[in-house]
Amino acid sequence: MATATVRDLISAAQTTEEEFLRHIFVRDQMHEWSKDPFIMAKADGVIYWDVSGKRYLDALSGIYVVSVGHNNRRVIEAIRKQLDTLHFSPPMHGTNPVAVQLANLIAEVAPGDLSAVKFQCGGSEVTEAAIKLARQYHKLTGNPGKYKVISRYQSWHGSTMGSLSASGLKSRKTVNEPLAPGFVHVFPPTCYRCPFGKTYSECAITCATLVGDVIEMEDAATVAAVMVEPIGHTGGIIDPPEEYLPILRELCDRHDVLLIFDEIITGIGRTGQMFAAETFGVTPDVICTGKGMSGGFVPLSAMICRESIADTFWGPISENPGFVEGHTFEGNPISCAAGIAVLHEILERDLCANARAQGARLRSGFERLAKKYGVIGDIRGKGLFLGMEFVKNLKTKERFPAEVSFGIQVGKRALANGLLCRFDPHWLAFGPALIVTAEQIDEMVAVLDRSIGEVMERIR
Ligand SMILES: Cc1ncc(COP(=O)(O)O)c(C=O)c1O
Repeated sequence: MATATVRDLISAAQTTEEEFLRHIFVRDQMHEWSKDPFIMAKADGVIYWDVSGKRYLDALSGIYVVSVGHNNRRVIEAIRKQLDTLHFSPPMHGTNPVAVQLANLIAEVAPGDLSAVKFQCGGSEVTEAAIKLARQYHKLTGNPGKYKVISRYQSWHGSTMGSLSASGLKSRKTVNEPLAPGFVHVFPPTCYRCPFGKTYSECAITCATLVGDVIEMEDAATVAAVMVEPIGHTGGIIDPPEEYLPILRELCDRHDVLLIFDEIITGIGRTGQMFAAETFGVTPDVICTGKGMSGGFVPLSAMICRESIADTFWGPISENPGFVEGHTFEGNPISCAAGIAVLHEILERDLCANARAQGARLRSGFERLAKKYGVIGDIRGKGLFLGMEFVKNLKTKERFPAEVSFGIQVGKRALANGLLCRFDPHWLAFGPALIVTAEQIDEMVAVLDRSIGEVMERIR
C-alpha cells in the first residue's frame, strides 16, 4: 500500500469501528464479537481499561498469562536492559547467555531431575515438541515402534496439527479434521460426572487404571507417551482425585511410556507450587509450560525433560542427530530476560504462597456463593486456578438447558459489571495474577455475586 494512504493515525477509539475490524481475525466469532467489540487499551496490576475507558478487574490474568501483574516494573526494566544489549541471537548456530541462564534457573525450580529445557514461544509449540521428543527418545533407545500418544477427551494441548490431534475438544477439532494419526483418547477424571457412572472412592479410579488397559490394547510396543493436563481446563477445571496421577506414573513406568504434563496453565506458581507436579506429588518425564512464564510481556514457553532423557540426545553425531525440533524465535533473548525476571519476582516475593493463601480465600468466596444461590454444583481446582460448575438441580446435577447457558449469561453480566473471567455454558473459572491481594479477591467475588444474582433474577 502506498505510504500516502496508510492509515497510521487511527485513534484507539476508531479501532472499534467495523471498517477497521474487517482487517483482523480474533479468536471469537467475528460477526458476534464485532457487535460489541472488546478491545483493551491499558492495564496495571490486576486492572484493565478498554478503549472507552471502562475498568475491568482481571480475574483471569488475560488468559492465565499475566502472572506477576500488568505493568510489572521489574519485568519491564529487564526487557529494556536486554533490548539495549542483544535482542536476537542466531538460532541455527547456538543460543545466548540469557537463554542458558533461564534454562539453569528452570532446572533449579523444576521438580525431580527435570533439568533440560527447550524454549519456544507458545504452548502449542512445546506440547508439539514434547510429542516429537517422546518419539525421538524411543527411537534413540531402541524402540522405534513407539509413536502413539494417549491423551484425553475434553483436553486442550494447542492448535498446531500435532497438539490439536492430541487435544480432545470436539468444538475445536471437527472443523480441522482429518487430524494426524497416532493419537488415542481416553476419558478424563471428571469425578462430578463420572464417565463410568461410578462414585469416588468406590470407583477404584477406573479413569486412571483404564489407561493401562488402553496401553495394552494398543500394544505397549507402539505407545510413546501419555499426555495430560494435571488439572484440565477446557472440560471445566477437571481436578483429578489424588490417586489419579500417581497411577498414571506407575503405568507409564511399567510400559516404558513417557508421562508428559501439559502445565501451560498450571505451571509457574498457579496451583500454589511452582508446578502442579509438586502440588500432586508426581514427577512426570516431561513438563510443558508457557502462559505465565513471561508474565505475558513477550511470548515464551518451555519443554522441560528429565536428565536421563536429555542424556540420550548427547550421544556422538554418528549415533544421533540431536533433538530434531526448532523454531526461529526459540530462546529469544528478550523473552528469556522476561522469563528470568518473572521467576525472580515469584521466588523473591514468594508468590506461590500468595497463590495458596488467595486461592483459599477465593475458594471460600465461591463456597459462599454456592450456599447463597444453590446453582453451583461443584467447585474445582487448586491455588489460583479455580472454577465452578453450574447446575439447575443440585441433587440430580441436571444442567441448565442450552437456551439458558447459565455460565455464559453470568460471564457476560460479569463483563458488563467490569470483571473478566473465563466462561462456558456450564462452568466459569478464575485465574487471577499471583500478586492478587485479599481485597482484590473480595472485590472479584463481589462482582461475581452481583452478576449471578442478576442472571437468577432474569431466569426466574
Ligand atoms: C493446557 C494448554 N495447553 C496448550 C495450550 C496452547 O497454548 P498456546 O495457545 O500458547 O499455543 C493452551 C492454551 O490455552 C492450554 O491451555
